[in-house]
Amino acid sequence: MYLGVDYYPEHWDINMMDEDMQRMTAMGANIIRIGEFAWHLMEKEEGSYDFSFFDHVIEKAKGYGLKVMFGTPTATFPAWLAKKHPSILSKDEYGHTRAFGGRRQYCYNSKVYREYSTKIVRQLVNHYKDEEAIVAWQIDNEFGHEGSDQCYCDQCHHGFQRFLEAKYQDIDQLNEVYGTIFWGQTYNGFDEIPMPQPTITTHNPTLRLDWARFRSFSINDYGKLQIDLVRSLKGTDQEITHNFYGGFFEKAYDQNIMSEHLDFVSYDNYPVWGGLKEPLKPGHIAMTHDYVRGLKNRNYWIVEELMGAQGHNVIGYLPRPNQAKMWAYQAMAHGCENMLFFRWRGMTRGAEQFCLGIIDQDNEDGRKYQEVKSFMKDVVNHGTVIKSEIQSDIAVLYDYDNIWSWYNQQQSSTFNFTDELVRLYMPFYTLNTCIDVISIRKDFSKYKVILVPVMQMIDEDLSLRLETFVQNGGTIIFSFRSGIKDRNNNIYFGQVFPCKIRQMAGIRVKEGESLQLDQMVEIVGEGRYDGNKGNCMVWRDLIIPETAKVLYRYNDQFYKENACITENQYGRGSVYYVGGGVNEEVLEEIAKEIVQARGIPWIDSPKGLEVYKRDLNGVEWLFINNHTDREVMYEGMEIEAYGSKIVRGQTM
Ligand code: GLA
Ligand code: ZN
Repeated sequence: MYLGVDYYPEHWDINMMDEDMQRMTAMGANIIRIGEFAWHLMEKEEGSYDFSFFDHVIEKAKGYGLKVMFGTPTATFPAWLAKKHPSILSKDEYGHTRAFGGRRQYCYNSKVYREYSTKIVRQLVNHYKDEEAIVAWQIDNEFGHEGSDQCYCDQCHHGFQRFLEAKYQDIDQLNEVYGTIFWGQTYNGFDEIPMPQPTITTHNPTLRLDWARFRSFSINDYGKLQIDLVRSLKGTDQEITHNFYGGFFEKAYDQNIMSEHLDFVSYDNYPVWGGLKEPLKPGHIAMTHDYVRGLKNRNYWIVEELMGAQGHNVIGYLPRPNQAKMWAYQAMAHGCENMLFFRWRGMTRGAEQFCLGIIDQDNEDGRKYQEVKSFMKDVVNHGTVIKSEIQSDIAVLYDYDNIWSWYNQQQSSTFNFTDELVRLYMPFYTLNTCIDVISIRKDFSKYKVILVPVMQMIDEDLSLRLETFVQNGGTIIFSFRSGIKDRNNNIYFGQVFPCKIRQMAGIRVKEGESLQLDQMVEIVGEGRYDGNKGNCMVWRDLIIPETAKVLYRYNDQFYKENACITENQYGRGSVYYVGGGVNEEVLEEIAKEIVQARGIPWIDSPKGLEVYKRDLNGVEWLFINNHTDREVMYEGMEIEAYGSKIVRGQTM
């Protein structure tokens, strides 16, 4: 097991290295990540490569028994390159060139940038391919983050037009699929097609979806160029990874594609960042881990685990004592098996002087140092269970085409895709069940339950796979606006909603409406839920049950005949349809009924206490994390505020 820190020795007096590394190893570290962002240090002038500083760092590290993850430095190109070739700089949607001065301002489609990236990476990896201290190469840093997924430069415009020509071949085919007859937008040639830059009203929905697909293609294509180069040069035992970040559903970038070319996936875990008043909800943090694990259906690394308050120009919430440590334990519970904390010491100069690390500006071994030390000294004893595979009976399915459609057309001003995915995820998280979060392109036939949040786009292929799943005894939970669009982002014509799943859901939907901020509709239970009440926000489908049973109806003047939540027995399985942004309590009761009926292991725990079970060689292990600010009792154990434990459970 690798446990370590992100280390930027180039930020400090070189004579501090010995003491730094001595303190790191005393803390329990056995690996450091270096090099990302240090392109200028390696190539001060074009073509004069010098790795002597990092040679020295690596020699020092080896003296302390520290292994190394080396980051390729292409996220921050040198000023001399921007000066010589300003064409590498990306442009925002207004066509403004992004100035040198931040990071990741390059265009993924810049031929010049690809040439220079290739040169520096080739020199770097050739220099260190036989260095046995280097166990992994991190490609660039957080592709697509901080707005870098979008570029509206000429290179991207021409690239987009070529991308469309390759996809549609014939401009008439594109016109037909887009419906460009609408508003007289018919194109005579691919070279007439714009990027979806600011206009009056809004762009064609299919053009906007194709643009997102092109952005994702651009990022993945640039990443693959570098991955293939490193793979062709690196040492046999050196692996390749890239570090993904949270907020992944907000980007025009499908990380599943990049992950296919990596040896392992890495994640940067920041439960709170910038001026947030409080951290993400525990279930939301858990979902991000399950998503990252789902990229390759394998455990992963965390190469940036938050320990100090973070932010560029605004910092907010201070993680309470042991809270950041608890988040690290939570990550281990959800499939992280090697972890580096961000960063060894906060840098007092430069743009991230408020991105605090383990060590602060006083350079003392303070509270955070002791927390990381205690964490490392503990988890190192649990390597086998931490590396074991997580077996889930439940999966959440997502599709980036669908997400990008929602991103461009929210339909409700209170809609947020991630919130709606977490809405279905949370009730099963609260029951402490193991949940995978995977792309629809992955096989989901092995699961007992699949959650399908706001899947507008359901095509024939997905419909058939879902049909097979439920016929074979699976349970599906759909939520609102399911099956209204085809994969071209166009609304199905001549078919009753929900298209492609109407029979299995046993319902039809004729009308619906968005619900605005602080607007909620009361829903009332029926049948076995008689007497229950709940509420619905964001959107509501006015469901007309056909073969389905009504579980909840709307309780309002015009629509009390319409259902909000239904259940349909179909084949050997069952299909639930949640027709709106329903509250947690209502969904928790349904989730509990499902896990019990399906014999899915679940654990009852006090609110805020996450108890994640791992079975290893006939022994149950429990990862217990208290996400609350008060002591909680569990099974005779006192779990302190923000406390964590890995305990051996019963023998099965
Ligand atoms: C991201 C980046 C790091 C650093 C941190 C600051 O995760 O990967 O380089 O900027 O944020 O929180
Ligand atoms: Zn560009």
